[in-house]
Order: sequence, then structure tokens, then C-alpha cells
Amino acid sequence: MSRPLGIVVVGAGSGFGAALAQDLAASGHRVLAGSRRARPANLPAPYARVDVTLAESVTRFAEEAHELLGQIDGLVYCAADPGAVARAWEVDPQDASRVLEVSLLGLVRIAGAFVPALRQAGRGSIVTVGSQAARTPIDLLAVYGAAKAAAEAYTRSLAQELHGTGVRANVIGIAAETDLARTHRTVKAELRGRPSPHPPLPPVNDSLPLARWLLTDDARHVTGQTIEARQP
Ligand SMILES: NC(=O)c1ccc[n+]([C@@H]2O[C@H](COP(=O)([O-])OP(=O)(O)OC[C@H]3O[C@@H](n4cnc5c(N)ncnc54)[C@H](OP(=O)(O)O)[C@@H]3O)[C@@H](O)[C@H]2O)c1
Repeated sequence: MSRPLGIVVVGAGSGFGAALAQDLAASGHRVLAGSRRARPANLPAPYARVDVTLAESVTRFAEEAHELLGQIDGLVYCAADPGAVARAWEVDPQDASRVLEVSLLGLVRIAGAFVPALRQAGRGSIVTVGSQAARTPIDLLAVYGAAKAAAEAYTRSLAQELHGTGVRANVIGIAAETDLARTHRTVKAELRGRPSPHPPLPPVNDSLPLARWLLTDDARHVTGQTIEARQP
């Protein structure tokens, strides 16, 4: 293992975030995982509740993270709302607002709470989990794609504005069988009136190595990039 890092994983109550937090903790890194639910029973990493749609909750979470981890070297943003699955012209604006709140504004709040300390320390790797939907329209996921495009553009701006500070920011894609993937598939099947023609996605652990690598100094020259997952 490379030297132990302090890493915050946001949106880690389930799926990719929970698997990554667990994997990093098992590798000896100092980790704080967070999302809205009460501590998931099967998550062996330190955990704190956070709702990224609420400014006070994000501030409290950042305080807990700094207290627990001391120096923070990595920040992984995985939070996403599974709603607003609909024809582009039939999306309920309130559902759209929730999806944008979590994917974009939550990321803005988290960056506001963590980036100043990363800059001051002169090091840090920010990893935003994006989606292929940001660049290629995916049927019935118009708002999800728009929200991911916004998060991706915001992350690239972070990378540009943090250039030369030692703080990097990149976007990764994943392809994994998770609650969000299952919800999207189920709602799409209901709307289409037929089951999904696609097989289940790969296990979540297949998507971990890229995030793990971007968090290390081995990726110190990589910033402002989007690295997409291979689609099955
Ligand atoms: N699965 C895929 O194939 C795939 C493909 C491309 C991109 N992605 C992206 O991968 C990331 C992880 O998703 P996943 O597939 O692992 O699905 P997931 O298991 O549903 O994870 C999403 C996480 O976001 C958290 N979350 C939702 N609203 C939140 C809020 N307001 N504040 C804090 N946390 C919140 C949820 O926990 P709580 O409910 O406890 O808050 C949950 O743990 C997402 O950004 C997703 O868009 C997934």
C-alpha cells in the first residue's frame, strides 16, 4: 500500500461509495464515509450522516471529517438522486430539482466545505462520480444526464482553478449493479411496459481500482480529466 491517506467519501450509504469506503479502510487508509441514512450495518468504515442538500449538514460533516481524519488527502463525491426518470418533456420539475440539488449543488457545497483546507495543505485529489449520460443521451434519463454534465463541467473548473495548488480534480464513470442502477431499470421498465433488455451491470468492486488510483500520488499528474467506465 502507498502511505495511508485521509479520504472522505460522500454518498457512501450504499453502492459504489460504500464499497469504496470499505475497500479504502481495509487497505489501511483513514476514511470517513457519509450519506443521509443511519450508519449502514455492513459498513466497517467510520461513518457520519450528511445531507448534501442542506448547508448546515455539510458544514457539520466537514467539521467531523477534519476532527476525525486530520489531514484530508482525498474527496470522492458519489451522491446521486435516482429520481426524474421520465420522457424529457414529462419530467416533474420538482423531481428534476432534487436530482440537480444532489448532483450539482451538493457537490458545490461539499467543495466549499473541503477545498479551502486542501488548498492550504497544498495537496488533495477530488474524484467526482459522473456518468456517460453527461455526454451521450440515455433514454428516459434526460435530467440525470443534464445534472451529471453540470457536475462534470464544475469538476473541470475546479481542476482548472486549482491548477498549481497541488489539488487535483477528475471525473470517473462507473458501471455497477447498485440501488440507483436497479431503480433506473425498474422505472424505465414500468414506463416502457416491458422489462429491460439489458443484463445486470458488473459487480461494484470492478469499478473501484480507478478511483483508488486517482486518490494516490501515482496519479499526481492527472487532473481535469473524465475517465469513463467500459460499458458491458
Ligand atoms: N451504478 C452505475 O452503473 C452508475 C453509472 C454511472 C454513474 N453512477 C454514479 O455513481 C454514483 C454512486 O451511485 P451508485 O450507483 O452506487 O448508487 P447508490 O447505491 O444509489 O448510491 C447513491 C448514494 O447517494 C447517497 N445520497 C443520495 N442523496 C443524498 C443526499 N442528499 N446527501 C447525501 N448522500 C445522498 C445515497 O445514500 P443515502 O440515501 O443514505 O443518502 C447513496 O448511498 C452516483 O453518482 C451515480 O450517479 C452509477
